[in-house]
Amino acid sequence: MAKNGNKNPKECLEDFNGKLVLITGATSGIGYETAKEYASHGTNILSINRNEEKSKKLKQEIEKEFNVKCDYLIADFEKISDVIKVGKKLADSKIKIDVLIHNVGIHLTGRKLTKDNIEKVFQVNYLGSFIINYLLKEKLKKQKNCRILFVNSEGHRFAFYGVPWNDINCNKRFYWDLQSYGIAKTAQLHSMIILNDYYKNSGVTINACHPGLVKTNIGMCNGPVYRFFKKLLNDPFARHPKISAKALYYLGVCKEMKNVSAKYFSLTTLEEPAPHAWDKEAAKETWINSIKLVGLK
Ligand SMILES: NC(=O)c1ccc[n+]([C@@H]2O[C@H](COP(=O)([O-])OP(=O)(O)OC[C@H]3O[C@@H](n4cnc5c(N)ncnc54)[C@H](OP(=O)(O)O)[C@@H]3O)[C@@H](O)[C@H]2O)c1
Repeated sequence: MAKNGNKNPKECLEDFNGKLVLITGATSGIGYETAKEYASHGTNILSINRNEEKSKKLKQEIEKEFNVKCDYLIADFEKISDVIKVGKKLADSKIKIDVLIHNVGIHLTGRKLTKDNIEKVFQVNYLGSFIINYLLKEKLKKQKNCRILFVNSEGHRFAFYGVPWNDINCNKRFYWDLQSYGIAKTAQLHSMIILNDYYKNSGVTINACHPGLVKTNIGMCNGPVYRFFKKLLNDPFARHPKISAKALYYLGVCKEMKNVSAKYFSLTTLEEPAPHAWDKEAAKETWINSIKLVGLK
């Protein structure tokens, strides 16, 4: 609930020296602050971003400020082929991923389709994380240890009717931005249920976090009216994304979270997700349809 997102998160004071966190979308907002939070505790950073210039800047800044390595891979989450390429590269690599944070996300006021002919918010906010998880699942299981975190959202509650697989591109429905955002976040929670079963007793955990209402660039790709109202009505009440970063560090590193899996947190407070996100049959349907949609076997 919103009130838990306004609390201060629990803090983890342990360091995470020499470990590796993989973060998607670390060039802005929550992902950027999270990369800095982990780096300040001695953790090496690997990020997956769409923008080369911003990624270089991030690398320089983090390596200058903290004594860690900060590398990046480039992928545009609007392109299935890009995400599959980086997913396969990571799956074939020998690097050990200690924490994996799925953070990339957008909010669009109008319906748009990607070049893959998929509704854009669904593709960027959910299918990107699905592909990476799908391609890395055997590697992570073999590692016997990894914490996977979704930067999810209270917005999942707006998908009142779950994930509408009969109209995923919103051809028949009226496009309502909060519902589309909620559908993508709900699909992510569905994938958490399935992967939690897959990782049972393997040492790998998977959890989701609502990062609070924080002031970032999200939604700034929308038109001037949206941006005006965001600045007027949203940003004054939004907190600094350092709050989200502290929560994502706690969930990824603290000892208390060692065997905790398939849970939804508002920052670091345990919460019940909406029933439609917690429906195992719906989760199976989402999993099977996602494999087909992105063309994986
Ligand atoms: N802000 C909030 O209050 C809030 C609340 C609940 C949940 N969230 C969730 O938090 C996550 C992070 O969002 P944020 O608020 O930090 O927004 P943000 O400042 O806009 O950051 C989003 C990150 O995702 C990247 N990204 C966007 N589209 C991409 C694409 N097609 N391919 C690859 N990367 C892409 C952005 O890259 P560029 O730097 O190149 O744009 C940026 O690094 C999202 O999943 C969002 O749904 C945010």
